Amino acid sequence: MGDMTARRNEIRNIVILTGAGVSAESGIDTFRDGGGLWEQHRVEDVATPEAFVRDPELVLRFYDMRREAIQTKQPNAAHDALARLDREWDAKTGGELLIVTQNVDDLHERAGAQRVLHMHGEHLNAWCTACDIRSRWTGTLIDRPGCPQCGEKALRPDVVWFGEMPYRMDEIFAALRNADLFVSIGTSGAVYPAAGFVQNANDLGARTLELNLERSQGSHWFDETRLGPAGTIVPQWVDEMLEG
Ligand code: OAD
Repeated sequence: MGDMTARRNEIRNIVILTGAGVSAESGIDTFRDGGGLWEQHRVEDVATPEAFVRDPELVLRFYDMRREAIQTKQPNAAHDALARLDREWDAKTGGELLIVTQNVDDLHERAGAQRVLHMHGEHLNAWCTACDIRSRWTGTLIDRPGCPQCGEKALRPDVVWFGEMPYRMDEIFAALRNADLFVSIGTSGAVYPAAGFVQNANDLGARTLELNLERSQGSHWFDETRLGPAGTIVPQWVDEMLEG
């Protein structure tokens, strides 16, 4: 029985951070495995405001392809298990739960999770830089469609690029302050501020658990690390949390 299991009865409020590793078994490429190249471009080269100014066609085409691709993918056992935890945790413990995801796919939601916060935005949203309204968007942006709200041809992917501020940081820190347990799943710990949440959680008194295929860059910050594919180790952990 793991340390985390032994302490389960002390845990009420949980913050879960997810990254690309959670969606890997659904067939969505991670960023830093396998070179992370797309048509010879580093992800960073198509994921900055500067890249969008320099070569908007390239950036829009890149995101159009990824937006199209995610719509052909399905949630995997890790998404399903987290959705089950989201559904059952409240009733079981009266505790709060928040899934903070760096992923811009919608697989947590399609698995049925309700309390999901997309700190890096969402592929299936377009953001109008003229009127600042976000609209659900499943089609392409390369053809420069007008904004459904204001009509301006000023839509961009609603994805946080390098150098831009992640979304809803106040809500994330409020949840971390209340957390008894912080769990990081399928993220390399390479991109801040998300990579620093484990240290924030430690400072704020939460237990910390890492579930990942391999040790992340900040692995030593966690109280406990479990290694394996998310589709296997996340359902096991969720079963432990909900058992008894
Ligand atoms: P990365 O690609 O950096 O890391 C993916 C992590 O998932 C690695 O640690 C892998 O070992 C692990 N992994 C791979 N397959 C797995 C599996 N089947 N089960 C469990 N773990 C697995 O992706 P992120 O950490 O999510 O930002 O990247 C963070 C941010 O960098 C992204 O949100 C994106 C990117 O640039 C923006 O777009 C702003």
